[in-house]
Amino acid sequence: MKYINQMKLEFLSIPANVAFARVTVAAFASQLDFTLSDLEEIKVAVSEAVGNSIIHGYRNLPDRLIRIQAALTTDSLELRIEDDGRGIKDIKKALEPAFSTDSERLGLGFVFMQSFMDSFQVDSTPGHGTKVIMSKRAGSGTAPFNPEQ
Ligand SMILES: Nc1ncnc2c1ncn2[C@@H]1O[C@H](COP(=O)(O)OP(=O)(O)OP(=O)(O)O)[C@@H](O)[C@H]1O
Ligand SMILES: [Mg+2]
Repeated sequence: MKYINQMKLEFLSIPANVAFARVTVAAFASQLDFTLSDLEEIKVAVSEAVGNSIIHGYRNLPDRLIRIQAALTTDSLELRIEDDGRGIKDIKKALEPAFSTDSERLGLGFVFMQSFMDSFQVDSTPGHGTKVIMSKRAGSGTAPFNPEQ
């Protein structure tokens, strides 16, 4: 089997679950040798995707569901974060830095996801929902300090 571990989470679209999701995914990912800074980046990417599902996908309706699937290979985390919300009409436009359909937002969530993860993809169908698929490799950062070198 390609995966050494897998998990699924399903939770309500309430703001308190942004922190729940990011901490849970980081705890799962920490089974690999991600650096602390890698784990912080994973947390930001998860927060941005879950926040988008709550705010944009479900327009802050608190009784909808968000699903996360995470899997580990020997050296990477694969993540799928999904809602059944209103979807994105123009994905290309939504991915542009500083584009937001909400004038009070910065339009940087997708930029963070793209810069902090090694692969990133959005699938969305208006009226049906949005799926963000991302992955990050472990062990690609600075090598740990070795006093014998
Ligand atoms: N899950 C989603 N469902 C529906 N629309 C979405 C979803 N995620 C993103 N979008 C759309 O894509 C746009 C860009 O998202 P992005 O996260 O980059 O910026 P933002 O959420 O508007 O601002 P910020 O993340 O900086 O607060 C959003 O304004 C929204 O229109
Ligand atoms: Mg956002």
